[in-house]
Amino acid sequence: MSMPERLLAGPPSGHGAETFAEHEQRLGALPPRRLRRDVIPALEASGLLSRGGAAFPVGRKWRSVAERSEGAAVILANGAEGEPLSRKDRTLMALRPHLVIDGAILAADGVGADEIVLYVGSAHETARAALIRALTERAADLPHPVRLIDAPDRYVAGEESAAVHHVNDGDARPTALPPRPYERGVRGRPTLVQNVESLAHAALIARYGDAWYRSVGTGEARGTALVTVSGADGSGLQEIELGTPLVDVVARGGVDIGRTQAVLLGGYFGGWLGVDAARATILDPVALRASGRAFGCGVVACLPADACGVRATAGIMTFMAGQSAAQCGPCVFGLRAIADAVGRISSGAAQSDDLARIRRWSGQLAGRGACRHPDGAVGLVHSALETFAEEFECHARMRICSRPAMSGRAA
Ligand SMILES: Cc1cc2nc3c(=O)[nH]c(=O)nc-3n(C[C@H](O)[C@H](O)[C@H](O)COP(=O)(O)O)c2cc1C
Ligand code: SF4
Repeated sequence: MSMPERLLAGPPSGHGAETFAEHEQRLGALPPRRLRRDVIPALEASGLLSRGGAAFPVGRKWRSVAERSEGAAVILANGAEGEPLSRKDRTLMALRPHLVIDGAILAADGVGADEIVLYVGSAHETARAALIRALTERAADLPHPVRLIDAPDRYVAGEESAAVHHVNDGDARPTALPPRPYERGVRGRPTLVQNVESLAHAALIARYGDAWYRSVGTGEARGTALVTVSGADGSGLQEIELGTPLVDVVARGGVDIGRTQAVLLGGYFGGWLGVDAARATILDPVALRASGRAFGCGVVACLPADACGVRATAGIMTFMAGQSAAQCGPCVFGLRAIADAVGRISSGAAQSDDLARIRRWSGQLAGRGACRHPDGAVGLVHSALETFAEEFECHARMRICSRPAMSGRAA
């Protein structure tokens, strides 16, 4: 199957950021402003699903902001990318900064906004530099004021209410909802928080139409998506047609599925799949959700056959516990307790009821935080208990690891 390059079409990655002149020569200008104001029906017809993790219909989201904007909404382009296994957003911003900016301009005109905030992970220096240069290149043409704001290098800083909180008050901790950002966000205005990849797709749909967007894909899964594939030898970015079998994407990423025991799909907010389930998996966000899984932010991280899934999970849970924004008791204490128990099991120091405790605590945690951080962490630990059931039993009851030689990294 050929690679359907859309977002990544154009100069090869070694070229670095596409300039404004190159971008306009290749794609032409965005449609004029009066047409941009009517873009929502095309977005709805395209079926574009958001790429920050939730796979929510982008057109519907724009409509809900447009209904309350009165021309004074704010666009917050989310390029925080705090997910450790993902590289898609930073790469997109670094290579195609003008496509991301086009998407933000389109969103501003589409929903009725008069300000754009580019919220970019402070660790993503190349992306940040590319956006700054891109803004300078088209400074005379920008129809709305654009601010670039650094997102703190924390997992939770990319959550939408945390992003709004940081822009407003310099505090990147989530706030209790409601009001949600689309009701009251930056400076109290209705705010469209949209992942940078979602915006870039919208910028192409505005040029080429919804039928063009839907013209690639398999079955009900339409369009393309950026996916970060990783294995023992590193990671790489691909643009895939949605509906592609996971094994094809893994093979294209240079990872041998025959030497893979499990795949972490969707990143730390997603879940583990054993290799047999992975072989049967199609990368279709809607079908995945229907089966209790998640495409998430497009992470496909392969755990080598000789690695220990318990140890990999312990590492992830320790990270997730450490990233709690420390303001909701169940999240702070619950995640720490679960991470400690998984850590004890992993290191052969399990207490007799640690496995039962993890199951009990995680059952009590979902939905108990101001944001969904604990829900994601609990989903991950559940998938680990299922996928690595034997390994967990072996570690917990017999205090042995059948794969002692490995690194335990998911990627
Ligand atoms: C703990 C947590 C971390 C998140 N981090 C990010 C992030 O780094 N980047 C991102 O685009 N969305 C992130 N999200 C999702 C955002 O809350 C929001 O849904 C998204 O930016 C909206 O854009 P989209 O609709 O285009 O996906 C995170 C959500 C949670 C719960
Ligand atoms: S649930 Fe956790 S990460 Fe989310 S706001 Fe509460 S303490 Fe912070």
